[in-house]
Amino acid sequence: VEGALGGGPLRGRRVIVTSGPTHEPIDPVRYIANRSSGAQGTAIAQALAALGAEVVFVTGPAQVPPPRNVQLVPVETAQEMLEAVQTALPADAAVFAAAVADWRVAEAADRKIKKTPDTLPSLEFVENPDILATVSGLSEGRPPLVVGFAAETNDVVENATAKRARKGCDWIVANDVSPGTGIMGGRENAVTLITPDGAEAWERAGKDVVAARLARRIAEALT
Ligand code: CTP
Ligand code: CA
Repeated sequence: VEGALGGGPLRGRRVIVTSGPTHEPIDPVRYIANRSSGAQGTAIAQALAALGAEVVFVTGPAQVPPPRNVQLVPVETAQEMLEAVQTALPADAAVFAAAVADWRVAEAADRKIKKTPDTLPSLEFVENPDILATVSGLSEGRPPLVVGFAAETNDVVENATAKRARKGCDWIVANDVSPGTGIMGGRENAVTLITPDGAEAWERAGKDVVAARLARRIAEALT
């Protein structure tokens, strides 16, 4: 409501959010992808817009409907996602919530691969561009606040802290996606925010509550 009325602490600020999985084609009917509903990224975009931000929402094929009040940029692959993010720059902040496929098939077939007796297909992979690392490392036009995510199944804070340094981003939102938690595909999230000042564990809450808290922190950081 605040955003719709033109007020809010993020009024006049432009924020890029990536969300959802990417799909990397094997042939015209098959792909590889990460598990991601897009729920957390969608909630973050919505929360930023509610604080008045102009949000560019770059999303892979997600399971949840896209947020309202954002500039929607649908993409399929990691390479398309990187291009869309580069086109959307400059921005005051960027939040990389997408579950980007780390690899793509080196040469996707342009026709459906058929089954053949006694032989199995083999796929050759190449690494996808790292969108978060690319944007974090920009010497010109880097958003002043770059936020990455880290989905970990073990040693969450340790892995996420190392990831923050490796990627060169400002903050990492780490979440524990080990199978027992029910977080993947669920309505709640339990995250630890890693900043240069250390690790803050946030209590488990609805993805919309986590999103609102993150959006408020981003607004504080930008003012
Ligand atoms: N990310 C990205 N582009 C990629 C891979 C990841 O922008 N090609 C971003 C994600 O959106 C997320 C962060 O990087 O914000 C961390 O992703 P993650 O998969 O946890 O990190 P990786 O460096 O790919 O490490 P891992 O080996 O654990 O998958
Ligand atoms: Ca990865």
